[in-house]
Amino acid sequence: MELFHISAECYPAAKVGGLADVVGALPKYQSTEGHDVRVVIPAYDTKFINENEFECVHWSHVKLGNFNFPFSVHKEKTDKLGFELYVIAIQELFDRKEVYGYEDDIERFVSFQIATLDWILGRREIPDVINCHDHHTGLIPFMMLYAHKYQKLKNIPTVLTIHSGLYQGIFGFNKLYYLPEFDLAHVGVLEWGNAINSLAVGIKCASAVTTVSPNYLNEINHSSNGLESLFNMVRQKSKGILNGIDEKVWNPATDKVLVSNYTIDTIENGKQKNKEKLCDIFDLDPSKPLFSFIGRLLEEKGADLLPQASALALAEHLNEINILILGSGNETIETELNQLLPDYKGNYNTFIGYNEDLAHLIFAGSDFLLMPSRVEPCGLNQMYALRYGTIPVVRRTGGLKDTVIDFEDGGNGICHEQTSVTDICTSIRRALKMYEDKKTLNKIRKSGMQIDHSWSSVCKEYIEVYNLIIKRNES
Ligand code: GLC
Repeated sequence: MELFHISAECYPAAKVGGLADVVGALPKYQSTEGHDVRVVIPAYDTKFINENEFECVHWSHVKLGNFNFPFSVHKEKTDKLGFELYVIAIQELFDRKEVYGYEDDIERFVSFQIATLDWILGRREIPDVINCHDHHTGLIPFMMLYAHKYQKLKNIPTVLTIHSGLYQGIFGFNKLYYLPEFDLAHVGVLEWGNAINSLAVGIKCASAVTTVSPNYLNEINHSSNGLESLFNMVRQKSKGILNGIDEKVWNPATDKVLVSNYTIDTIENGKQKNKEKLCDIFDLDPSKPLFSFIGRLLEEKGADLLPQASALALAEHLNEINILILGSGNETIETELNQLLPDYKGNYNTFIGYNEDLAHLIFAGSDFLLMPSRVEPCGLNQMYALRYGTIPVVRRTGGLKDTVIDFEDGGNGICHEQTSVTDICTSIRRALKMYEDKKTLNKIRKSGMQIDHSWSSVCKEYIEVYNLIIKRNES
């Protein structure tokens, strides 16, 4: 079938978080299964988009209320990502370095959605399914159903995949005129909480809704920033599908970034070599267990607890542990993390920023990966960690609950219940105990490495959803 994925991010073209990893991998595996897959993202000013060759396949103007922006659609020439990548260039709105965080994000993403549909409308072929991702593409199913100019697209089934229910793309009805003319009898569909809520609109209008883990689907029925009752209403058309990981990109046996590649049989030696390299870079002690955190420094990730939890753990076990933090985000958290540096030199370090290669080395060289998330719709890092023989230390929430089972219950990780400094420190104490018992440690590492989180198996679940909504639309 011909599939379109429309998203704000796609690795390696534009990445902020896990959304990019999923949109960079799932389409690739769907392609391998024989589907025609196209991914559409905005043309940001990123390294990948600047350095690769694209050909222009369409150009026109996008109308956003009274504004008119020229836009063009460019296809990456070689399909090197394993699918067709299209970037939509909208002058003035997307030729910027960052993906999000601008005052005109609403104008940017509404224009992106309109430009994408204008282009799809003008194509000769009609896709079989359009898979939208997160609120940045939530208005698409609505516009396809009700905007006069997209009536030709009305019968294409749509899926909205929710990677995060926290961000909803909310804006006032004073911007209603941004949308292409539609049947006003349906204006109520746009409303949630007295505003236009892009995520809610997508949830209402998509033929099916998927979340990135089964447990997250259960959780959002009780807690989803005001959308609880809506999720309950659409339960029938919703499904939680656990993300996979790209096992070609995340494989310790072939990963080019590592100083030593390893498999289950060579894990001890392999991990130690990578750890030595990391400890060398960050002035840490390779003979001690290394706890790392990789990710956005945001409250939703529980990163606000890290400064205090690290300080307490280091004070209690100074001669026994290393802690390394890689990430950026909230400036207060960044500052608080850096303030610990002078006191714990030799045991603690940070890298404020993001560096994909460094992330690979940290997964390989660390013993434990901390994920104290408040909210984690799926979480990919715990799966990368398992694949690299690194033991995830997680709060039981969202997808973490689906993928990490405590070692005392026969699993491969360490789990706690509360988003609290106390719980993180208790888990660190348990991890240290496990670390002393090398036999158990290695057994758990090895069995973690063997878990299959590949996209190949997950892919089928998406295709099942697509088939179901295609059939439903036909009948
Ligand atoms: C978002 C979520 C994360 C999920 C990722 C990919 O970043 O916060 O939990 O793994 O999307 O779906």
